[in-house]
Amino acid sequence: MRTPPVPSTVGAVIPQVPDETWQLLQDWLPDNTDPDRPVMTLATVDESGDPDARSVLLSEYDRTGLYLHTDARTRKVAQLDARPVAALVLRWPEAMRQLVVRGAVERADRAESDRAFADRSAYLQRLAWLNTPEVAQLTPEGRRTTWADFGAIHPVLDPPDTWIGYRVRPTSLTFWTGAADSVSHRREYRLDASGWRRSELPG
Ligand SMILES: Cc1cc2nc3c(=O)[nH]c(=O)nc-3n(C[C@H](O)[C@H](O)[C@H](O)COP(=O)(O)O)c2cc1C
Repeated sequence: MRTPPVPSTVGAVIPQVPDETWQLLQDWLPDNTDPDRPVMTLATVDESGDPDARSVLLSEYDRTGLYLHTDARTRKVAQLDARPVAALVLRWPEAMRQLVVRGAVERADRAESDRAFADRSAYLQRLAWLNTPEVAQLTPEGRRTTWADFGAIHPVLDPPDTWIGYRVRPTSLTFWTGAADSVSHRREYRLDASGWRRSELPG
């Protein structure tokens, strides 16, 4: 299980997941063009060193990582910028599957973030504009009116300045499978100084 890092087009060396892991990711995750995006639990570390977590959508993924998008004013952004590490948990209860990804985090580039915004539904695009501290202070009726008025004035939207993306570059990926007639099991891929290593672990 040794896969050398592959050079990127801009000259920096960006580690990529090995072929076998990439195959599994593609089997488990919907295609990037599928509008039904998976929900992930994103775990971060706050300024006191305490854990924090919330749900986010998986915007897209490639061999270098998993991408998520959010608002620059959120707590997760302050946390990720101060301590650029994260864990992601994705779960498919009906398939008895869980994927845990841990890794280093970096800001996604503008082209990727613009693409992710364009791929979001009209509802989620409007949400990216209106999920603000000011709107949060309004009454429920005030929020509904603001929502409708904004939609009437801006039927088509570009990303707001606060729209930002992050890539979680995996240092480990753990594929958990359950089975009604067998023991649960984990296959883990972990990146160390000499490359990717695979382990078979109890579930
Ligand atoms: C199913 C679901 C999907 C969500 N997707 C996103 C998302 O993709 N990006 C985002 O910023 N917030 C998303 N949220 C809201 C976050 O869970 C969270 O409340 C918000 O981003 C503020 O988080 P923070 O204060 O920890 O930064 C989602 C919430 C749910 C329930």
